[in-house]
Amino acid sequence: MNDLFDNLLADDGAGDVTLGPGAAILRGFARPHETALVGAFRAMIADAPFRHLITPGGYRMSVAMTNCGAVGWVSDRSGYRYAPIDPDSGKPWPAMPEAFADLAAKAAAHTGFAGFRPDACLINCYEPGAKLSLHQDKDELDLDAPIVSVSLGLPAVFQFGGMARSDRPARHRLTHGDVVVWGGPSRLAYHGVMPLTDGEHPLLGRQRINLTFRKTR
Ligand code: SIN
Ligand code: FE2
Repeated sequence: MNDLFDNLLADDGAGDVTLGPGAAILRGFARPHETALVGAFRAMIADAPFRHLITPGGYRMSVAMTNCGAVGWVSDRSGYRYAPIDPDSGKPWPAMPEAFADLAAKAAAHTGFAGFRPDACLINCYEPGAKLSLHQDKDELDLDAPIVSVSLGLPAVFQFGGMARSDRPARHRLTHGDVVVWGGPSRLAYHGVMPLTDGEHPLLGRQRINLTFRKTR
């Protein structure tokens, strides 16, 4: 088998899947906390609704985004940055719910990164067809801390590559409750999400929600 879907076939959907040094998929890690996570998520987006950001190049992103925590990731014609104020509301981002921070710390510790205290949580909303092109998370000042990414709702195909954009990424299906952690030597790995396939999730409907925890400073 030499196809792009090696990983999709080889991965039986249980336990941890190693993606590289300091990087793993923790299958179903967030499942036991889904009620608390979805409840906190719903309360949070009432204060900071999803919006489609514009890239520095002038494109509207297909993924809708919002944030919670001390700072939030924003993009506009002037560039990408972390900002303490939601530019849409003019107010600080909603506080990071305890249920979010706790789960992120547990997943990081499980992968070998003890003491992870994220100060930012980017929340992505993918509707059918939405995608995220290969990129590195490199706007954070603290590159010793890992990235912790929680998938909720519809399944998606996640791409996880190397340190160069040209390294062919592996593809892994992420489903509701899966958590991906990447840090250490894998902290700057390229990653992305393939266009979302349509479907209906019992808890979240026709969307995929991704929570990405970062320590920015
Ligand atoms: C991201 O890279 O910000 C999100 C990844 C994902 O949605 O799984
Ligand atoms: Fe990312």
